[in-house]
Amino acid sequence: MPAPKVRHEKLVREIQNHDYRYYVLDDPIIDDSAYDSLYAELRALELAHPELLGADSPTQRVGAGLRTELRTVLHVRPMMSLDNTYSAAELGEFHRRVVEGLPETSRVLYCVEPKLDGASVEILYRGGKLAGASTRGDGKSGEEIIDNLRTVKNLPLTIDYTGDLTLRAEVVIYRRDLDFINSEREQRGDAPFANPRNAASGSLRMLDPRIVATRRLRALVWQVLEEDFAESHSKALDRCAELGLPTHRKQVVCASNEEVFAAIAEIEKTRPSYEYDIDGAVIKVDTYAEQGILGNTAKFPRWAIAYKFGAERAYTKLLDISVQVGRTGALTPVAHLDPVELAGTTVSRASLHNQDQIERLDVRIFDTVGVEKAGEIIPQVVDVNTKARNGSERVFVFPTACPSCGGSVRREEGESVVRCINPACPAQVEGSVLYYSRRFAMDIDHLGESLVHQLAHAGWVKSVADLYTLSEEQLLGLDRMGKKSAQNVVSAVARSKEQTFDRLLTGLGIDLIGQVAAAQLAEEIGSLEHLLSLSVDEVCQRADDISGFGPKMVDSLRRYLQSPASRDLLERLAELGVSRAKAKKEVRAGGALSGSSFCVTGVLSRKRNDVHADIEAAGGIVHDKIKKGTTYLVAGEKVGQSKLTSAKKHGTQVISEVELMELIGALPRS
Ligand code: IVH
Repeated sequence: MPAPKVRHEKLVREIQNHDYRYYVLDDPIIDDSAYDSLYAELRALELAHPELLGADSPTQRVGAGLRTELRTVLHVRPMMSLDNTYSAAELGEFHRRVVEGLPETSRVLYCVEPKLDGASVEILYRGGKLAGASTRGDGKSGEEIIDNLRTVKNLPLTIDYTGDLTLRAEVVIYRRDLDFINSEREQRGDAPFANPRNAASGSLRMLDPRIVATRRLRALVWQVLEEDFAESHSKALDRCAELGLPTHRKQVVCASNEEVFAAIAEIEKTRPSYEYDIDGAVIKVDTYAEQGILGNTAKFPRWAIAYKFGAERAYTKLLDISVQVGRTGALTPVAHLDPVELAGTTVSRASLHNQDQIERLDVRIFDTVGVEKAGEIIPQVVDVNTKARNGSERVFVFPTACPSCGGSVRREEGESVVRCINPACPAQVEGSVLYYSRRFAMDIDHLGESLVHQLAHAGWVKSVADLYTLSEEQLLGLDRMGKKSAQNVVSAVARSKEQTFDRLLTGLGIDLIGQVAAAQLAEEIGSLEHLLSLSVDEVCQRADDISGFGPKMVDSLRRYLQSPASRDLLERLAELGVSRAKAKKEVRAGGALSGSSFCVTGVLSRKRNDVHADIEAAGGIVHDKIKKGTTYLVAGEKVGQSKLTSAKKHGTQVISEVELMELIGALPRS
């Protein structure tokens, strides 16, 4: 057996090398389980010999605990933005200005590289150690996120360089990794991220590095500030790569305008093969000396410009159009496509928005259509290639009756949406029940899509209030419903009565009243009983006084409260005892527990509901049982073994009630 110190050093070097091969070179030589066992051995060794633990140990990537807030720090130099162009002519202008700004003898060289579409950060290495990191913020200062950056596995914790290095980089998530992250989020009932950029910037600002570590972030360096590091930008990127720092490795040095155009065209052509999103090319004067001569305007460097590409588009065959009915009754046409690769994922459905859009584009079934992802999760049909028509295409006739209930549909003056006007329409009921039970609303487990579909179509559930009258016996008659599942459904529904008033308001799905507005309104009104005791005018008056409540929101609230069906529903919910709990205290975005979820068990020093309320007030989420993604199990006395086993299985950290209070900030950290 080698001495612990020798074994420790060897393990650290080995794991660092595997991280480098996997995250930087994309060329792993061992599988996940072999990696995990090396990592576990290192952890165990460090636990037994804490004196061996150094700053560069891979275990230190998630060494930091939860933060209560992010500090603001000044950037070493302001992070400027780039002037943009979409045309070759403007690029010619840029070249002319560069040549004019430099001495006549200069033979300017440009570095052309992809413009990465992620979250930009400043990263500091001091004396060879990863020592600081911040988000872009307002350009002058950003939020300090070093603990989160340490979890980014392609960034070395130490490098073989003794000077100061200030790097600018883009933090990205590979497209394939986003699919994975989103499918996990959807399983937990969280809204999926619209694109890798949102996912990356949201993840970077989280307070718990342990969660950040699950987000598969990667940094790619695009600038080094120290001018003594290399003589030019392209050489600086090469030198970064030699030091094991991650760069995009796509830079091309160009000696003429023609070469610049060719390099941009190559990036655009190969764009679909990138693992991450890019939205253009950046053209930079390469040498630092010439960059210095050109200097900056107030906003942009004069030595660089971005050439932006349009959204990625793919053409494919439109196989059919179906019409979905949503919870608000809106009829939305959906295009069913011959599956096609677009921006890193396979697309087989796309939105056609509404009747007008179909007519504007003159889309016909069997047409060849152009599809884009435009900052939204669902791709959109944006174009029709009419030249590809061969006569087999069919004009789509928009339904004149609701495809779900067969009832009448109506299109209001000035609106583009056609709606089903039958409030008992099963598709609407289904949509509103699913929305009501979402995690950010009433958080009712066990109400899956197929169960809700059956309940709505059997006519047992005509509004969310009917959920509370379902019995186990009734449910037992449904498809694939055993005794245990039926019990689970009934008890999850019953438990939701304890949810706070803001969650109930969210769950009602009133047009334009989302989570934030619902929380404000709940705070203003206090409770469901109080809401029912006020006149519609009084409620609207008070909503109108809330800052951020615009006239359209107040109108929508008024329409909702004036409708006899909504009034009935609210009264029934009150009779059933739903949401008698007080409205929760306002949740601060970035509260101490935001981004973390909790399950509470065992005998505690206080009532469990009070502990739940504290967690929620600090921005945390309470699960009633441990599931994939639950961050903490708060274990009181006499905690059952099954909970502990389940925590272990789901990677949930077990903490005591005292530790919870420390996290919330109610107690000083021991
Ligand atoms: S160079 C002084 N190179 O684009 C500014 N920026 O619009 C020099 N970006 O904030 C910027 N990829 O976040 C540069 N290869 C690249 C880039 C890049 C993405 C982002 C960056 C910057 C923004 C400017």
